[in-house]
Amino acid sequence: MTPPDYEYLRKLLKDRSGLDLSADKQYLIESRLLPLSRKCGLPGIGELVQKMKGGSADVTTQVVEAMTTNETFFFRDKVPFDHFRDSIMPEILQARASRKTLRVWCAAGSTGQEPYSLAMCLKEMGAALAGWRVEILATDLSQEVLEKSRAGIYSQFEVQRGLPIQMLVKYFKQTGELWQVNADVRAMVQHRQLNLLHDFSQLGVFDVIFCRNVLIYFDQDTKINIFNRLAKTTEPDGFLVLGAAETVVGLTDVFKPYPERRGLYRPSGARAAPARMPAIGAAAPKVAMMAGR
Ligand SMILES: C[S@@+](CC[C@H](N)C(=O)[O-])C[C@H]1O[C@@H](n2cnc3c(N)ncnc32)[C@H](O)[C@@H]1O
Repeated sequence: MTPPDYEYLRKLLKDRSGLDLSADKQYLIESRLLPLSRKCGLPGIGELVQKMKGGSADVTTQVVEAMTTNETFFFRDKVPFDHFRDSIMPEILQARASRKTLRVWCAAGSTGQEPYSLAMCLKEMGAALAGWRVEILATDLSQEVLEKSRAGIYSQFEVQRGLPIQMLVKYFKQTGELWQVNADVRAMVQHRQLNLLHDFSQLGVFDVIFCRNVLIYFDQDTKINIFNRLAKTTEPDGFLVLGAAETVVGLTDVFKPYPERRGLYRPSGARAAPARMPAIGAAAPKVAMMAGR
């Protein structure tokens, strides 16, 4: 790959997905884009760049998607889901007792293990949520991962990563070597494509936002911009859950850490400077009415 091609790709990825590559990540681009150039029938990365410069939106989308890291697994890191069950939901059950609604957003849901882990947590709460309108929105930049998430079909290897066997038996159906999330759990999760760099205010306001293991790839200004907009889309008494390597501390005061709960934040009520981002379309709400057990 020539230095100008590398610089072109670096800038394109920063603009399109927020991915902030340092000057020495040629190997990462090569390991992800050489297979893609072969798939597109092109001899190398230079030709992919030529296609993009020639205005091929399809190749550009494929390049951006190939460069995203989609690593995820059920109940990843465990602790955030313990916080969800033991700290977040008890407060929400009390605070929303009269209106009985819950809106959860997985802001980089990848192939679905995170939103379905949350859906299973809610199912486990049984009668406590009877009669509630529950909405879990899973969004991601990549259409490819969203398709897999929508299908809710996982390999033996994927269901062995983080998913307790009792939950596998209870919430999945086996078909040959694959496992599919049961229809009632799938019905709790709505999917849509969304780039966090773009305006997401039309999604409305959420009680809980899981935004985990995506901001680590962005530069500081992009993180601050996204935190400031996430604060506006979180209920004043709502929650933000970040990944183990992510924090708001030192970046913005629009969220404050929840005492003694690592990775858990609440809106502080502090105002951030208004951010102007390109608009996206409105989401069609899909809600699940929870039945008791
Ligand atoms: C490492 S996965 C994290 C999945 C899950 N949140 C977890 O922690 O297991 C990161 C996801 O962020 C998505 N992503 C990357 N850039 C994005 C952007 N600008 N907007 C929305 N999603 C993005 C990727 O497609 C990928 O699926």
